[in-house]
Amino acid sequence: MKVVFPRQYVSGLISGAIQALAHQTKDPSLLRVVFDVDYKEGDKFGDYASNAAFGVAKIMEIPPLQAAEKLKAIIEAEIAENIERIEIAGGGFLNFFFRKDYFAKNLDLLSKLSPKNYADPERKKIIIEYSSPNVAKPMHIGHLRNTVLGNALANLYKFIGYKVVRWNHLGDWGTQFGKLIVAYKKWGHKEKVEKNPIEELLNLYVRFHKELEHNSNLEKEGQEEFKKLENGDKENKNLLAWFLKESLKEFNRLYKLLGIKKFDKEIGESYYSPLIPKLIEELDKNKLLEKSEGALIVRLDAFKLPPALIQKTDGSTLYMTREVASLKYRVKKLNPSKILYVVGNEQSLHFEQLFAIARLLGIKPDIGEHIKYELVLGPDGKKFSTREGNIITAQEIISQAIEESQKIVEEKRKDLSTKEKNEIAREIGINSLKYYMLKDGRMTPIVFNAQAMLSLNGNSAPYLNYAYARFSSILSKAGRIGKGDAYSLENQELNLIKKVLAFDDALIKSKQNSSLHSLADYLFELATQANRFYESTPILTDAMEKRKDSRLQLIKGICRIMEMGFEIMGIQTLPKI
Ligand code: ARG
Repeated sequence: MKVVFPRQYVSGLISGAIQALAHQTKDPSLLRVVFDVDYKEGDKFGDYASNAAFGVAKIMEIPPLQAAEKLKAIIEAEIAENIERIEIAGGGFLNFFFRKDYFAKNLDLLSKLSPKNYADPERKKIIIEYSSPNVAKPMHIGHLRNTVLGNALANLYKFIGYKVVRWNHLGDWGTQFGKLIVAYKKWGHKEKVEKNPIEELLNLYVRFHKELEHNSNLEKEGQEEFKKLENGDKENKNLLAWFLKESLKEFNRLYKLLGIKKFDKEIGESYYSPLIPKLIEELDKNKLLEKSEGALIVRLDAFKLPPALIQKTDGSTLYMTREVASLKYRVKKLNPSKILYVVGNEQSLHFEQLFAIARLLGIKPDIGEHIKYELVLGPDGKKFSTREGNIITAQEIISQAIEESQKIVEEKRKDLSTKEKNEIAREIGINSLKYYMLKDGRMTPIVFNAQAMLSLNGNSAPYLNYAYARFSSILSKAGRIGKGDAYSLENQELNLIKKVLAFDDALIKSKQNSSLHSLADYLFELATQANRFYESTPILTDAMEKRKDSRLQLIKGICRIMEMGFEIMGIQTLPKI
């Protein structure tokens, strides 16, 4: 079923008008004008609005207002069918007011909406890197925001038809692994590590530092083991690979608990070590390397960036070196149209340098994009740490979310068995935590607040889950829905149809900003409007059969949209909350 959503419809009208204008003025450069078409809530600015006149004005070298007049005149001469009127506002914005019956006409569509209707014509291949925790260390709160965001972005691209490669770039390199090898060789037990990988490896690492206090030799031993690793020593390489495998067991347990989809590639940084001599050779051949006090650097003055260190004086390589090697590897192996790196804001400089080096190496420009995000702060708005002052782990946060949710379920659902209560508390806790990590723009710091996260009346997962459960229960009570009569619907309902049809707008904005908050806002508004409708309108008891069916179709459309939205956000529907 080919569906034209109102946003696409308006887009088509504008493209047509621009074409006509290009023809009139014999200026084909007008065809390159890029413009947005945005959904508008309420009807002050129309149902949809566009900034197209501004782009046109620039090329024609006329005021935007004049360009808007021209576009408006062309469109008005062409159509009368679906648009009631066009207004110009804000010095050149075009506001499109649809005829109310346009929304009524589209009612039939709603219950049939499926992901296919939202497929992006481009359907490119994209690598999305996220999570990327460090081997032998617990995932912390930052990794949690990262993982939930990256997973949802990957879901979004998958949903609109891209070929998505989910990539986990695990940290398994650095001098600390020399120390860990020393500690394991001296005090480690295979079974203990296998039983509790991260905890045990972390214990060994901590013990290393304790023993170091009275045995200063250890420092050197650590360096030697790391050196051996760098030179490709078999035993150490195998140990490192085993640390990675064991750590992944633990990470996978967390991913599963959180409902994070499986990664397509899980590759440790160490994997790129053998590729580094060739990379250094290539940099050298391209005259990009410079010796600086015995170390090798790439100057990035042309990009107004500080030089990137590629090799230290002692010959060892760095995070950046393996990063460049990994980028080259990804491009060569998979030839993606883009690589999104979901990594904390504090690594901005690192990525600017990486992308600059990629340009110098002639890799497709703009292949990489750093999808940064801000911190998650503790309830007091300060750094989120444990009572002992340690950084809080992802597991601790998850447990807290589930515990808080358990309290609510215990109180509200006394009817359920213990097993059912535990199950639903876990689902609600995880949903709430994930939604809370996504509902704000990624550059907004999140202040952890269990009440808000689990609130039944705010912008939260429980609110959405509860609304969905209500609507889907009407549908199951109703059974088969007949063909309705959309013209029996009233303004409130037509506005809801308008909202349902604007799902594409939320997807486009989320993709544009690489942030799920637009989708979250949309779902919250949809649920709120739908709740108001539900509370003010008798649906199942409606005496007019056709109107009842129309209303049920609307509810069905709302449910479809919520299901698709939840799927992208990575939260579960919970029909029996
Ligand atoms: N392992 C790093 C950390 O936990 C993040 C790695 C990010 N990804 C990358 N390609 N550099 O801080």
